[in-house]
Amino acid sequence: MARITASVYSSHVPAIGAALDLGKTHEDYWQPLFKGYEFVKQWEQAQKPDVVFLVYNDHATAFSLDFIPTFAIGTAADFTPADEGWGPRPVPQVLGHPELAAHIAQSVIQQDFDLTIVNKMDVDHGLTVPLSLMFGQPQAWPCRVIPFAVNVVQYPVPSGRRCLNLGKAIRKAIETFDQDLNVQIWGTGGMSHQLQGPRAGLINKEFDNAFLDRLIADPEGLADMPHIHYVREAGSEGIELVMWLIARGAMGDLAGGAAPTLKHRFYHVPASNTAVGHLILEESK
Ligand code: DHB
Ligand code: FE
Repeated sequence: MARITASVYSSHVPAIGAALDLGKTHEDYWQPLFKGYEFVKQWEQAQKPDVVFLVYNDHATAFSLDFIPTFAIGTAADFTPADEGWGPRPVPQVLGHPELAAHIAQSVIQQDFDLTIVNKMDVDHGLTVPLSLMFGQPQAWPCRVIPFAVNVVQYPVPSGRRCLNLGKAIRKAIETFDQDLNVQIWGTGGMSHQLQGPRAGLINKEFDNAFLDRLIADPEGLADMPHIHYVREAGSEGIELVMWLIARGAMGDLAGGAAPTLKHRFYHVPASNTAVGHLILEESK
């Protein structure tokens, strides 16, 4: 059977992708940030996941504001890196896992979560920047990726509780897939940032670090945090953090198992306009 072996969390700042693509990672500004991702690149080479279930948000790239699914699962065989206005990033095509994605859609919809099924879409920095941070700059991505897009752009956006419970349903779906696959689930976006209005540039280290503490040790309590609290404390785009609860909900401790192992924790400010957080939680054996 397929099994979830770890959850990985990271911010997705587009300037990080540009720094990688333009060979700027050794510049003084970027060095401390990329140092925080050295561990995960080694760790991923040892883990060798078959599939990453990648929870991210589209930034009005694939869906525009004409059409906004709350939760959308990518069931295609492949996904093209999007042109976000300055050409597509020079990163490999993203290969999907249509069979597992279709199984997850079937199972999760039967568990009463309405998913939009997406058979064709381009993927923006929300998905490609985390891939670059975890896997570096390979000729081809080392595993299949199931994109799972969450609306955190246009209100109303899903609650933390719904995201945590959806993660639990995704775990059940993956565990009932009849192939021996090593699956990771990633939660991406955040941490505190606001890109617009009088509070543009907001960063809140205290909030972010408390969020990381609670994501690790008190996800059920964290799921009750209302949207307005994210927006007040973490800024308008800080609401991206709600997606991390989907990945956290898929860990075994919330299904009666032991607590996951914290393999890595990193926090850095700023990158572009954003606070960057990164965690690895390994499933207990
Ligand atoms: C920035 C951060 C984001 O999450 C995003 O989607 C776009 C820009 C930034 O920090 O510049
Ligand atoms: Fe974003």
